[in-house]
Amino acid sequence: MNCAYQPNFRSALQIVSQTTLEKTVLQCKNQAVAYIPWGDKMDNIQNCTTWFCKLQVAVQKDLTISIVAAVIIGLILLALGAILRKFIWPVISKWASRKKNLIIENERLDRKLKRGFGAVAQADHGTHKSEGSGLWLTKPVTQTKNYRTDLIDSIPIWVIANLKGGGGKTTNATNLAAYYAMKAETDCAKPVLLIDLDYQGSASSMCVEDNQQIPGDSFNSMATDLVNGQLTAAELVQNAKPVRKNDMIDGLPLDIVPAYYDLALAENRLMIEWLFSENEKDIRYQLANILHDPLVQSKYSRIIIDAPPRLTTACIQALCASTHLLIPTILDKLSSEAVSTFIKQVKDLQKAEVCPYIKFAGVIGYRPGDTDEGRLTNAERQAIARAENTITDALRSYQESEDLYLKDAKLVYNKFLSIMCGEFYRDSKNFWKRRAHEQCIW
Ligand SMILES: Nc1ncnc2c1ncn2[C@@H]1O[C@H](COP(=O)(O)OP(=O)(O)OP(=O)(O)O)[C@@H](O)[C@H]1O
Ligand SMILES: [Mg+2]
Repeated sequence: MNCAYQPNFRSALQIVSQTTLEKTVLQCKNQAVAYIPWGDKMDNIQNCTTWFCKLQVAVQKDLTISIVAAVIIGLILLALGAILRKFIWPVISKWASRKKNLIIENERLDRKLKRGFGAVAQADHGTHKSEGSGLWLTKPVTQTKNYRTDLIDSIPIWVIANLKGGGGKTTNATNLAAYYAMKAETDCAKPVLLIDLDYQGSASSMCVEDNQQIPGDSFNSMATDLVNGQLTAAELVQNAKPVRKNDMIDGLPLDIVPAYYDLALAENRLMIEWLFSENEKDIRYQLANILHDPLVQSKYSRIIIDAPPRLTTACIQALCASTHLLIPTILDKLSSEAVSTFIKQVKDLQKAEVCPYIKFAGVIGYRPGDTDEGRLTNAERQAIARAENTITDALRSYQESEDLYLKDAKLVYNKFLSIMCGEFYRDSKNFWKRRAHEQCIW
């Protein structure tokens, strides 16, 4: 090997890094005998000794290794980059976006839980806790579009309700419906719609055949679909069941929306879904949405709703959809106190803007058992008078006229049950006259 002049070695020196070279030279220096000049002086080296060749080979070897190493490292890096981009990056970004979504979902669930548990939370009075004001007062209240004007312009929609069971809701609802349907027939007016919103389905079994009331396997009753939003206004006017025909009723313009026990299941589901939802449809206005629809409003002259004895989802929907509330009650101590409680609850709902426009149509009392007034004992008369006072006091204390206690309205009970006669109230002259100029709803 000619060591006197090594162009390869020189050019190699030019490209090899200073650090590598210095390192190599230092290594060589340790082994070498003399100091090795380089750079320009490299050409002048006369005595090329073994150590220089060794250095040259070392440097060349180092250079080759470096280049090969650089290429390999470069290739490895490229391969790593490709692997990262193709396999690892999608996994990382999927994981990151899943984590982000989880955080968002967690926050959403947290808000839902707070809303749900907040709705049923107890009221904290510092020293003690008491039950809260009721979940149907939950904010926000999202009424349907044009709710107020729709209600003002609506045909009469009466809900017959009372949270005390057995007060005569179904008896009054069915008989009122029959009465108005007979009136519609003689006046050539539009038909009446009776909606059974009590999962017990008592009004339905009075008014329609079993096969019209009881839904087939895996089907909902009509009231259920009405309350859960699966029935459109068009379907309602088309599919409402005609009243059962009998000796006295044939072709009476009265349609029924029958209810069955599946309604209770739907009510629970709807209530829970609504409580633990956020910014979704306000379930309280589902019925209003359908009953205020022009299709329903133009088909019927009046709608009567039989409510259940609890503030269920269907009951709150009925209060929100109705123009008037009629409260039937037994004239005894417990029932008359329950009337006060119910009036207070409705007032609270009105104040909370849940059903602010519903009007009280009246409170109708009856005395179970002997209907012959003449055979009442003094004690019985006094008990009835006390119950009536409780009712009128309640009306007064909630700024309603005490005339709304419909003292003279007596249901001719025996005539109606199951035959739906329609001659509804014993016509006490004053009663009809008074009702005629109030609200024009009777
Ligand atoms: N005006 C009335 N005169 C006499 N009896 C009546 C009158 N209204 C209802 N009743 C009787 O009271 C009972 C309960 O009536 P009804 O089923 O109408 O009450 P309800 O409030 O609908 O009950 P629930 O809360 O279970 O739905 C019935 O068996 C009926 O016989
Ligand atoms: Mg009933």
